[in-house]
Amino acid sequence: MEKEKFTSRFGAIMATASGAVGLGNIWKFPYMLGQNGGGAFLLVYIVCVICFGLPLMITEFVMGKSSGQSVRGAYQTLAGNNRWNFVPILTCLTVMFITGFYLVITGWCVKYFWISIVDGAWLQSMGGNIVCSLVAALISMGVLWMGVNKGIERLSKIFMPILLVLLVVLIVCVLLLDGAGKGLSFLFAFDASKITSRTVLNALGQCFYSLSIGMGALITFGSYIPKKQNVASTAAEIVGIDTLVAIMAGCAIFPAVFAFGISPEQGPQLVFSVLPAIFGQMPGGQIVSVLFYFLLCIAAITSAVSLLEVLVASLMDLTEKRPRPISRHKGLIYAGAACLLISVLCTLSLSADNKWLILGGKTLFDWVDIITSNFLLPIIALGTVVFFGWFVDKKVMHEEMAPYYGKQKWTMNVYYFLIRWCFPGLILLIALNSIGLL
Ligand code: PFF
Repeated sequence: MEKEKFTSRFGAIMATASGAVGLGNIWKFPYMLGQNGGGAFLLVYIVCVICFGLPLMITEFVMGKSSGQSVRGAYQTLAGNNRWNFVPILTCLTVMFITGFYLVITGWCVKYFWISIVDGAWLQSMGGNIVCSLVAALISMGVLWMGVNKGIERLSKIFMPILLVLLVVLIVCVLLLDGAGKGLSFLFAFDASKITSRTVLNALGQCFYSLSIGMGALITFGSYIPKKQNVASTAAEIVGIDTLVAIMAGCAIFPAVFAFGISPEQGPQLVFSVLPAIFGQMPGGQIVSVLFYFLLCIAAITSAVSLLEVLVASLMDLTEKRPRPISRHKGLIYAGAACLLISVLCTLSLSADNKWLILGGKTLFDWVDIITSNFLLPIIALGTVVFFGWFVDKKVMHEEMAPYYGKQKWTMNVYYFLIRWCFPGLILLIALNSIGLL
């Protein structure tokens, strides 16, 4: 069967950007920035995105586009043997756990959205949380059920622009508050003394997460990019949108935080417990709150869609040549059920009653996060750069770039210098930093 491709350049950019723009931009980026010195972190982050994120996004796109396959098939086709299969297998397992975890937080977004409209005390219970994750999962699966063009592409062409407009509206609302200017100066004032090695490593890790690097999503989406489309400029536009949304989220959140005299260093609870309290005291707070959580839901659900698609596409590719290949719908049911099970277990582990899901003082929810972000993702990212930098014929990259950049050989030399000599070491440093060994 002919594989689906995105129908236009705009569709490809919107679909991938809406997968990249997610909780990482609106939930994680603001609190990371708050904890890592404000404007200084922002500048370091932008440098990381350009020097590190962009070349890696191009790499994953080229892997997908040149092989026309999702994660598993891409490695096999480019390697010409089975020796690298452990990377895609590990990727799919990791993505399954990350999606389960992501669905829990997406469920919280749905919950706060719901509470901002009607007062549903029961939603705060364990059952309420599970129902919200289920709603998020079912919506994501509904989008994927319709396929790459009618589902992912069509929806992101509608929702990505809505998300941008909502952010602008929110920014205007919070900038009208007294004292909002302090929030903006926290975000944009640059103080070099705040840059430490930790700031740099945190910014690098955040850049990975926010751009969806190392999770197979970009390889999968790369395989849907039409043959004639330039992957380098496509990646540059997606990186630009992702960074813009993160900065805009900062502009919507910090002015409110400062206007109410709250410290910006609140950590992960910034969006889920500090903001509801602020909205409660703000003039027109209920409307702002509905808008904000709706925005968060869109961002989170479209990212959950892109994570699930990695699994569905891999199941389809894996069985493509078998007598009974797995169809999109069947693959979606298997992948969705596995992720939902993980997400329910993660939510259950957050209650002290379920001791069987708590190990060494940490819940299953914590363990999934720790193991995937600190160990599995760095191994996969390392596998990807070593594989593409050292084991894939340079012709693959040359053929993708030559029609657009002709004989500008120096860009290729810089690229290969980075991917062969700099990125493996940097990835190791990020991993050691997140484990706490640096
Ligand atoms: N980039 C997404 C975010 O910023 O929330 C998270 C994510 C989605 C990572 C999809 C990886 C992925 F495959």
